[in-house]
Amino acid sequence: MYTLKVVKIIQESNDATTLCLKQPGLKKVKYSSGQYLTLIVRINGRKYIRPYSFSSAPGIDEFLEVTIKRVIGGVVSNHLVDVIKEGDVLEVLQPLGDFVLNPDVDLSGKHIVLWGAGSGITPLMSIAKYALHNKIGAHVSLVYGNRNPSAVIFKDKIEALQEKFGDTFSAWHFHTRLTIPVNNPNIIEGRINPNKVFSIMKNVGDFKESLHYICGPAGLKESVKTSLTGLGLDEKNIFTEDFELVRDPADFENITTQMVSVEKNGVKELVEVIKGKSILEAGLDANIDLDYSCQTGSCFICKGKILCGEVKMIGVQKPLDELLADECLLCCSFPLTNDVSVLII
Ligand SMILES: Cc1cc2nc3c(=O)[nH]c(=O)nc-3n(C[C@H](O)[C@H](O)[C@H](O)COP(=O)(O)OP(=O)(O)OC[C@H]3O[C@@H](n4cnc5c(N)ncnc54)[C@H](O)[C@@H]3O)c2cc1C
Ligand code: FES
Repeated sequence: MYTLKVVKIIQESNDATTLCLKQPGLKKVKYSSGQYLTLIVRINGRKYIRPYSFSSAPGIDEFLEVTIKRVIGGVVSNHLVDVIKEGDVLEVLQPLGDFVLNPDVDLSGKHIVLWGAGSGITPLMSIAKYALHNKIGAHVSLVYGNRNPSAVIFKDKIEALQEKFGDTFSAWHFHTRLTIPVNNPNIIEGRINPNKVFSIMKNVGDFKESLHYICGPAGLKESVKTSLTGLGLDEKNIFTEDFELVRDPADFENITTQMVSVEKNGVKELVEVIKGKSILEAGLDANIDLDYSCQTGSCFICKGKILCGEVKMIGVQKPLDELLADECLLCCSFPLTNDVSVLII
């Protein structure tokens, strides 16, 4: 755990703010572009934990930067945007995440294509800056979707990258509500449409060797993935990051509200897990101090050992072989039987 001071706050768009955090004097925070920082905040006496991708790039930006976009009704995002001020300190966990440029792959000559919408731009911005400044890959393309131009996060920073790296960086903006026609082929009306992009994208290197990073809503991920694989790209060249897990209601058909025993540090508590809530959410609502970060089944911090009963895991993002047979991820676990008992490990 680190305690970092907020040294600067930047208003990036009408509803997004960057917090610039000062590196600690001694134990520096080491991270890779594309990773995220887990913020721990206390609001009205309750502890909340939320991950935010770095929008800064290591070795390029002076500060550790995270950029937060408001979510309507969101507890932590609105608190960070409205309440946190310069001089405040934030507790954070060590950087996590594997949405990064693969260190084991030779990226020279490769086209790196970044697809994002809304707040999904944050890890892509970090990757773009890192790749361009370090001359990694032959070309970086950014395809970014927003409601309208005023919702674009990092507008000036994207333009600055275009100016500085003109030959090796291209950016396309899609706007679902572009009311004024713009005489610029790189500003396109509608949702991100991969086919439109491919028809005008610079042909750099071998398409089959290009690398694609997608961060945005599930719909964007699916449409880009389908287009890419349809053109013959191997799925191993596609990397995705989910900010939010969208679950299929059909997965909950055989789940009902159950009492679940949660044991931590020798203390057992009986928690009501209402249908649709994960054991993690129910435990947090019951004020149990549980460790977690992503809540999307990818960081594995919320691991629990199933002592009794059966749970169903829904939405786990990583291969389950990382878990032992009697382990589960509490953020993705829902009780199937009325005798579930879990031990926090
Ligand atoms: C790996 C990772 C990296 C992330 N990086 C960023 C980042 O760089 N910038 C950023 O702004 N956010 C990022 N997020 C999302 C962030 O962690 C929070 O989920 C988000 O700020 C909402 O938290 P909240 O407490 O305000 O909302 P909550 O009070 O938890 O939720 C309120 C409502 O909003 C919905 N909701 C939750 N998250 C989202 C979302 N992302 N978009 C739309 N609706 C949502 C919930 O379903 C709920 O209905 C990231 C998430 C993950 C998993
Ligand atoms: S909180 Fe990350 S896997 Fe559960």
